[in-house]
Amino acid sequence: MGKYFSKEKNKTTKPCINSHEVFSRSYESKDDYNEGEHYIHIATRDLFKVNFSSDIQNVLLNPNTKILDVGCGFGFWLTEMASDFPKPSYFGIDILPIYPKSTFPNNITFQQHDILKRLPFEDNSFDFIHVQFLNFDITELQWETIVFQELARILKPGGWLEFCEMEYGILNYGPLSKKFDLTSK
Ligand SMILES: C[S@@+](CC[C@H](N)C(=O)[O-])C[C@H]1O[C@@H](n2cnc3c(N)ncnc32)[C@H](O)[C@@H]1O
Repeated sequence: MGKYFSKEKNKTTKPCINSHEVFSRSYESKDDYNEGEHYIHIATRDLFKVNFSSDIQNVLLNPNTKILDVGCGFGFWLTEMASDFPKPSYFGIDILPIYPKSTFPNNITFQQHDILKRLPFEDNSFDFIHVQFLNFDITELQWETIVFQELARILKPGGWLEFCEMEYGILNYGPLSKKFDLTSK
């Protein structure tokens, strides 16, 4: 994900390699709320006009439904879903404890977990698993060898797994944007 640069003399700059690093830095100073992430959440929802695309309208009306958001960040998606559809139980996991600690709907459980390790959920636990903007943190190999298997393990048969990810790329590179873009060759 981006690089941090400083114009201060003699200050060394260090690239951030993924959003996990960016968020751990902002977490040091901002605690429970990140305006940038909230803005991205609102922009994404306004773009698609909904918070999900899967055919889960009926599932959302069932009080036995269990929903997981992986890499939930500050919990904006979960908080909105839990307010719009209050019947299901919602779970959010993130490698960093940046999710809300005090004020959030009581049908959400936030937990600090790493998706690259086995999650503490039983097989066939969730009716709907939502993953949004995690692709900068997980390598292709990790998706293929760890994440898809773990998500398939905890998803109920007939459950829904939804990814909302962006394809990253800059068109018409100039010499400067080439220099600053970690992904360009
Ligand atoms: C770009 S943010 C997206 C947050 C949220 N899903 C959203 O759409 O607003 C990526 C999140 O994934 C979390 N994350 C990164 N690596 C993770 C891992 N291995 N396991 C769980 N969460 C992870 C980061 O801490 C960060 O909160």
